[in-house]
Amino acid sequence: MIKKCLFPAAGYGTRFLPATKATPKEMLPVLTKPLIQYGVEEAVQAGITMMAIITGRGKRAIEDHFDISYELEHQIKGSSKEYLLDEIRSLIDTCTFSYTRQVEMKGLGHAILIGETLIGTEPFAVILADDLCDGDVLEQMKQLYNKYRCSIVAIEEVPREETNKYGVIAGKQIEEDVYMVNTMVEKPAPEEAPSNLAIIGRYILTPDIFDILRETKPGKGGEIQITDALMTQAQRGMVLAYKFKGRRFDCGSVDGFVEATNYFYNLEKSKQ
Ligand code: G1P
Repeated sequence: MIKKCLFPAAGYGTRFLPATKATPKEMLPVLTKPLIQYGVEEAVQAGITMMAIITGRGKRAIEDHFDISYELEHQIKGSSKEYLLDEIRSLIDTCTFSYTRQVEMKGLGHAILIGETLIGTEPFAVILADDLCDGDVLEQMKQLYNKYRCSIVAIEEVPREETNKYGVIAGKQIEEDVYMVNTMVEKPAPEEAPSNLAIIGRYILTPDIFDILRETKPGKGGEIQITDALMTQAQRGMVLAYKFKGRRFDCGSVDGFVEATNYFYNLEKSKQ
């Protein structure tokens, strides 16, 4: 059973400066909801209610968001706007939120290792909130995990010239949309990429990843990469890559963010 979802949320979000100078990038809203809330909702949709969030300096707004604001509750109670808090209230009621800080920025692998204290020794999910998905991607991955019981990364085909923005895998297809990974490279140049199958920010990891991460040397960019740790795990056992069904937006970039905003705006309009 996957009960916990880890959200690495300590990064600076430099691509969104100055907006992210005093606001965590995970709190930037697509329409009226911050990015991280979409992630939490996706985890809940997969039956996960224990959220483990890796924060850092200047990220307190995330903790406040997943908590009651008594002043606001008092102001809004009985007013016509009260319904605007329905979704966030229901998340606060159904989920628990635990936090720990990443003191130094040493990469995604390092951030995940910091999460060990919140996760313990069970398999867990990871969501990178700036990859915003429309669709139950984590639920799809959980079903695959129940069948194979190993680490799984979500993948999508990207244009060749963009491989240097992602972890890239190659492997053997074992069923429709499922690959057994035999190569994994962090942000390869297009001419060195083993394929155009890019890892997007959804993972299911088995807890032996923590010991592997402890041994993993800094890789691309001098940072400890989860991609390198997963490659070790694939060599020792099995890691799967899953071509998910649904749409994903790279909200870590301004273009992707605008695309997501337009997409969700049109979706909302079509429901009215
Ligand atoms: C991270 C991972 C990368 C993955 C990407 C998905 O990179 O290191 O392997 O493809 O997330 O969004 P980042 O975007 O944090 O640089």
